[in-house]
Amino acid sequence: MNRGFTQQDAAGRLRHLITLDGLPRGLLVELLDRAQEYAGRPGELAPRGSDLAGWTVANLFAEPSTRTRASFELAAVRLGADPINLDVMLSSRAKGESIIDTIYTLQEMQVDVFVIRDAEPGIHEYVARHVGDHVAVISGGEAHVSHPTQGLLDALTIRQCKGGFDGLVVTITGDIRHSRVARSAHRALATLGAAEIRIVAPPEFMPDAAEFSGARRYESFDQAIDGADVVMMLRIQRERAIGAAQADPVRYHQQYGLTAERLARAKPQAIVMHPGPMNRGVELTSDVADGPQSVIRRQVANGVAVRMAVLAHLADARRRRGA
Ligand code: CP
Repeated sequence: MNRGFTQQDAAGRLRHLITLDGLPRGLLVELLDRAQEYAGRPGELAPRGSDLAGWTVANLFAEPSTRTRASFELAAVRLGADPINLDVMLSSRAKGESIIDTIYTLQEMQVDVFVIRDAEPGIHEYVARHVGDHVAVISGGEAHVSHPTQGLLDALTIRQCKGGFDGLVVTITGDIRHSRVARSAHRALATLGAAEIRIVAPPEFMPDAAEFSGARRYESFDQAIDGADVVMMLRIQRERAIGAAQADPVRYHQQYGLTAERLARAKPQAIVMHPGPMNRGVELTSDVADGPQSVIRRQVANGVAVRMAVLAHLADARRRRGA
């Protein structure tokens, strides 16, 4: 976040949601509490509201997505908004239109919220600086930098399963260097007070020393998983790094894949998380992904609840500002 830009208004509420960096614990807890109210139960009708009645939410995704895009669309609809899904690669951006001209165009169609996924770091803040006072920008993923709603849904899932964050040992494993999910999870968990965050990866997938402050670094997955309460697995981000594209999946699985045998080193009630999409047989085996300790599908369900909470918070903040 550059000097002079803030994603919060004078009252501390969100104007935009671009990163979890710098957001206070109280605000994260408020968002998690709100999301919990929207967390439905399997087989029941999904919770709905009218917080966004009359609003328009535009999803502008310039990178592939299943979970984030679908859940933002559902969240918008369930709160009464009209959603637009623009496949950026099939939009006039492909004919040379700049992102800001795309934004101005849609803003004239009375879009109130832009949800943006983009591979270019800084683009979300750039857009947020250019939209009208009443318009909000939410990151649906910024390069390797940030995925704030993923961080929130991971935190919500952990809180539901573990009752809170006190004393928790969380092991994050995989291509951490190129992972926006890991950065946002680390930020959320550090702010919410997890006792110990461990990161483990082959050297080429470890982040620079200046990043992930306070996290304990490991090279051995067997050591890093010992006694963990939460095991968060990440896929290799082949689209982001030449080294990653060359990684041998068989060798990687032998050293850093989560198997039932390895999971037995964690605490007996440890939960297994993965943001998706999974590469079964590489970062984890199917018996673990579908096993009793897996909360991967619950993460997906919580994604809708968290995105509803963020949208409702932004709508509430705008009403209070009178924008
Ligand atoms: N976790 C996540 O961001 O998934 P998608 O890429 O499918 O949105």
